[in-house]
Amino acid sequence: MFMPQIISGNAIASKIYEELEGRIERIKKEKAGTPGLAVILIGDNPASRVYVSMKTKKCNQLGVLSEEFTLPKDVSEKNVLQLIAELNNRKDIDGILVQLPLPEHLNENKILTAVCPSKDVDGFHPLNAGKLLIGQPAFIPCTPLGVWVMLIESGFSPEGKHVVIVGRSTIVGKPLMSILCQKKKFANATVTLCHSRTNNLPEIARSADILIAAIGRPKFITRDMVKQDAVVIDVGINRVDNPSLPRGYELVGDVDYDDVLPVVSAITPVPGGVGPMTIAMLMRNTVQSCEEKAGIILHNLY
Ligand code: GUN
Repeated sequence: MFMPQIISGNAIASKIYEELEGRIERIKKEKAGTPGLAVILIGDNPASRVYVSMKTKKCNQLGVLSEEFTLPKDVSEKNVLQLIAELNNRKDIDGILVQLPLPEHLNENKILTAVCPSKDVDGFHPLNAGKLLIGQPAFIPCTPLGVWVMLIESGFSPEGKHVVIVGRSTIVGKPLMSILCQKKKFANATVTLCHSRTNNLPEIARSADILIAAIGRPKFITRDMVKQDAVVIDVGINRVDNPSLPRGYELVGDVDYDDVLPVVSAITPVPGGVGPMTIAMLMRNTVQSCEEKAGIILHNLY
C-alpha cells in the first residue's frame, strides 16, 4: 500500500541547528561575540507564553544569548517604545522579537516599526516586508521562511508548481506568496493566494500541486479540497477543547489530517511540522544578523 511521506519539521530543524552550531563557533573564534536575541512578551496570552519559552529554550541549547522581557498587559505604548529603543542601541543584541498578538490598546504597526530593521529577525518591519516584495535581501518572517526551507529540504521544490496558499495574513500568507513567486532557484512557483472570502475555494485548492493551509481554522482543509498526490503543508496550530485530556485541550492543524492522508503524496504533521521550522528560522536569522554586524558574510543557499 502507498504510504504518504510525513515531512518531519523536527528532523529538518535538527539539520539546520547542526549548521548553526558551526556558524556560532566561527563567530566566537573571530572574537565577534555571541549572537543575542531579545524577546518581548506583553500580557498573559497562554499560547504566546508557550511560544516564547520554546524560543528561549532553543537559544539556551544553541548558545545564543537570550533575554526575555515580560511586560504587564496594561503597559503603556511609551514604555514599550522606550524598551525597544534601548535594545536597538545595545551592541550585544542582534535580534529583537515582539511576540504577537499585542493587547488591543497598543498600536502594532507603531511598535513593529520601532524595531531597528537590522535587528528585525522576525521580518515584520515595513522595510523588510517591502524588500522581500521587491526581491532585495531582507529578514524574512520565520514561519513562511520555514515552510519554504521545508519544501526544498524534503525534495518538493516549488519551481514551476501551482502553489495554493489558504490564508492572507501579514505573518504567513502574504510573505509566503512573495517568497515562492520570486524569480530564483527553488522558487519560481505559480502562486494563488486564497482566503475566507474566496469564491470556489475547494475547486481552487484542488488545483494545487502544493497546498499550504494558514487560515487559522481547525481542520478547515478536507479531502474534497485536495488533489490526488498533492503535497500538503499545515501551518495551523489551533487549541481545541478536549476535556478528556489532562491539559483540557489538544493542538489541531488547519488540515483534517486523517481525512486527507489517503490522497496526499506528502504532508506535515501538527505538532512536529512547521512549528519547529519557525523556531529554527528565528535562530538562523539571529545568527545571520550577528554575522552581518561582524562583517562575516555567508550567503544563504537559498
Ligand atoms: N505570533 C504568532 N507567530 C508569531 C511569530 O512568528 N513571531 C512573533 N513575534 N509573534 C508571533
